[in-house]
Parts: sequence; structure tokens; C-alpha cells
Amino acid sequence: MILSQKTAAVTGTGFIGPVHVEALRRLGIRVKGILGSSPAKSEMAAKTLGLPKAYLSYEEILSDPEVDVVHIATPNRQHRDMVIGALHASKHVVCEKPLATSSVETSELVERARKNPALVTAVNYNVRFYPLALQARDLVQTGAIGRVLSVRGAYIQDWLLKDTDWNWRLLVEEGGELRAVGDIGTHWMDLIVFVTGLRIDSVFADLATLIPVRQRPKAAGATFQGNEAGAGATASEPIQIQTEDWGSVLFRFANGARGAMAVSQVTAGRKNQITFEIAGSDGSIAWDSEHPNDLWLGHRDKPNELLIRDPSLLAPGVRSFTSYPGGHNEGFPDTFKQLYRAIYEYLAEGDFSRPKIFAGFEDGHEELLLCEAILQSHRTQAWVPVRRNQPESS
Ligand SMILES: NC(=O)c1ccc[n+]([C@@H]2O[C@H](COP(=O)([O-])OP(=O)(O)OC[C@H]3O[C@@H](n4cnc5c(N)ncnc54)[C@H](O)[C@@H]3O)[C@@H](O)[C@H]2O)c1
Repeated sequence: MILSQKTAAVTGTGFIGPVHVEALRRLGIRVKGILGSSPAKSEMAAKTLGLPKAYLSYEEILSDPEVDVVHIATPNRQHRDMVIGALHASKHVVCEKPLATSSVETSELVERARKNPALVTAVNYNVRFYPLALQARDLVQTGAIGRVLSVRGAYIQDWLLKDTDWNWRLLVEEGGELRAVGDIGTHWMDLIVFVTGLRIDSVFADLATLIPVRQRPKAAGATFQGNEAGAGATASEPIQIQTEDWGSVLFRFANGARGAMAVSQVTAGRKNQITFEIAGSDGSIAWDSEHPNDLWLGHRDKPNELLIRDPSLLAPGVRSFTSYPGGHNEGFPDTFKQLYRAIYEYLAEGDFSRPKIFAGFEDGHEELLLCEAILQSHRTQAWVPVRRNQPESS
């Protein structure tokens, strides 16, 4: 299928915006330009990435008739307005996660997406697109592990371990009320719901801000940049932190299965590790993003197995999501490539009533509903049901 008929523009020149650009270009999709938070940042990014256009404002992207798809890779608080602007300008949207900072906002975006059925609206949950996560999903769907009984796992990082580590995500007004859960926990929950097909009915949470005061540098850098700049590289001021560094969440799924997730951004040595273990009545599956090309298959009555990512060993429907032969490892950047291939193929096929394998706005809304139930549970120290009121039509 030819994907190169569409043209994209990207907003956000920090950590993840350039990842979008690179993945799109690996697929032959034209990226016309990029927008940063200032003309100088746009120009620097366009030059570094070799893009023809440095946009000077978001409005310039929206009024560019050559741009079909807008990729939103700015901080969370910008997402809602940027999505609304893109839909209003009849552009397809790929928005970074979380879709917005509250379920009121995401509900509004779901409604607006419904009113624009001719536009593709996607949320960038890329972890779904590790080939072995897709293989795990296929194994669950085809009954290979029987009925899912329980799920456990974690998303763990260390880049905010020091009180001198700083990022906009630490602030409620920039990232939303939940940080570790909202930033990385939503990746885990989206992945588990995607792989198991199970709905989360209620949650019980314990969250902690283990570093309550942090030193905010006078000049902040891009995400993860603190690791390279070195702690205390610039002058700073102390800031009281309201968002959580760590969280532990229990889940009850609709089929009666139970789950447990740990999230942390303050665990030394774990750079960016997402793991899951799904236990079924006939077997288990475990996966670890630090070894993304291995899938562990657990058995009760025979030796366990290790499936190494190799197209010839994957389910037929999963093979197309891997581009390299076995032994040629694929990782984080490849998930973006496979995600955009799925989105742009969907776009090229043109029937947007078909089910989609990538996350849509409803999935983005679901994550905010889960986050809000988790926050309420933490505050009340009680089980909280996930409230799924249908977004109101106006
Ligand atoms: N899917 C993933 O794996 C993944 C990974 C990292 C980040 N993200 C998401 O991507 C988004 C960006 O995160 P990041 O880590 O790249 O942050 P970052 O701070 O590294 O980069 C954000 C960039 O947006 C720019 N920006 C701010 N306001 C802008 C505006 N109005 N117009 C244009 N640019 C603007 C900033 O200058 C900065 O360069 C967040 O929503 C985050 O949750 C997703």
C-alpha cells in the first residue's frame, strides 16, 4: 500500500516530536515541517531534521493546504486546544498520550471526533506495536492461555530520582494531576487492555510523592535531558511537588480477573522498563521491554518456552508488524514506525468505520477515566469503580 500520498506536520521539538518525524520518514511519508515553542526552536529542529519548513505558529500549520495530518507532540496541557484546532481545520490528528489532562477534556474530544467521521483521530500509544506485544494479544485472543485469571506488571524509570531532576510533567498545570500514573501508567493500562481485551471495572491505589521538594532550574531542557546535562548544572529554585513519583494500583477486571501495576520514576537503574505477566487457566505470558524481542511462555505441565521475535514464528496477523528477520533486534523507534504504518494504511484505505488496531480517542478517554478513578481511590483509600458515562451530545 502506498502511504506516501499524505503529508504530515509535527508540533513539539523536544524528546518525542523528532521520534515522530524519523518514524514517518522511514515509511516514506512526507513530513513538511515542524513547530517548536519559538521560531528559533522551529528553525533549529527543521535544520537538524532536514525538514523543508520551520513553522512559526500553529495557525500556519492549520492553514497549510499541503498538510493532511497533524502530529501533536507538545506537553499535555496543549493537547486539547491543538486537537480542536486540527479537527476544525479538517486535518487528521495523531495526538501524543495522554490525550488531554482531564476526562472532561477527553470526553469533549471524543465528541468532536464523532462529529468529524471523515478524519482519523489517533492517540500515540506506541507500546502496543512491539511485535511480541501483538503476539501476546494474538495468543490471548486465540485461547492459547485459556481464561485470563490475573495480570501483573510495572512501568519503571529513574530519570526523576534526584531532587535536581526537573521536567514540566512535575507540575499539575502542565502535565495533569497524575504524573507517574498519567505519563507511564497509562501506557501500561492501555497495553494490558489491548492485549487481554478485558475491561477494568474498579481500582484501588496508593500513590506517593517521595521527593516532595525539587529544584527547578531557571532554564529547563527536554525530557530525559537532565541525565546528560548533569544534576545542578544551572541555577535553580525550590518547588513543592504535588504529583506522584510512585504508585501501586490494584485492578478488578470485568471477567473477575485481578491485576496489579507498579509505576515509578524514581527507581535507580531502571531507565524505561515496562513489563507484564498475564496468567491464564492454561498458561502464562510474560514480556519485558528491556528484552523486547523475547516472549516468555509459562506452562504448568511441560517446560517453559522462550519465543524469540522472528517473523516466521509469529502469528500470520502479527508478521506484518515486524520489518526485520529474527536476531535483528527491533525496539522503541520501530514501534512508532509500525504504529504510523497502521494509521496511514487505515487512512489510505479510507473506511473509518472499520475497527482499528491503534488507539483512538475513545481509548485516550478511557485512560483519563482510569486515572481519575485511581486518584479518587488514592484520596479515599477505597475501591473506586471506573465511571464510564457516555460523552454528552450537544
Ligand atoms: N509515546 C511515547 O512513548 C512518549 C514518550 C515521550 C513523551 N510522550 C508525550 O509527548 C508529549 C511531549 O513530551 P516530550 O517528552 O517530547 O516533552 P519535551 O519537553 O521533551 O518536548 C516538548 C516540546 O514541545 C515544545 N512546545 C511547548 N509548547 C509548544 C507549542 N505551543 N507549540 C509548539 N511546541 C511547543 C517545547 O518547546 C518542547 O520542545 C507529552 O504529551 C508526552 O506525554 C510520549
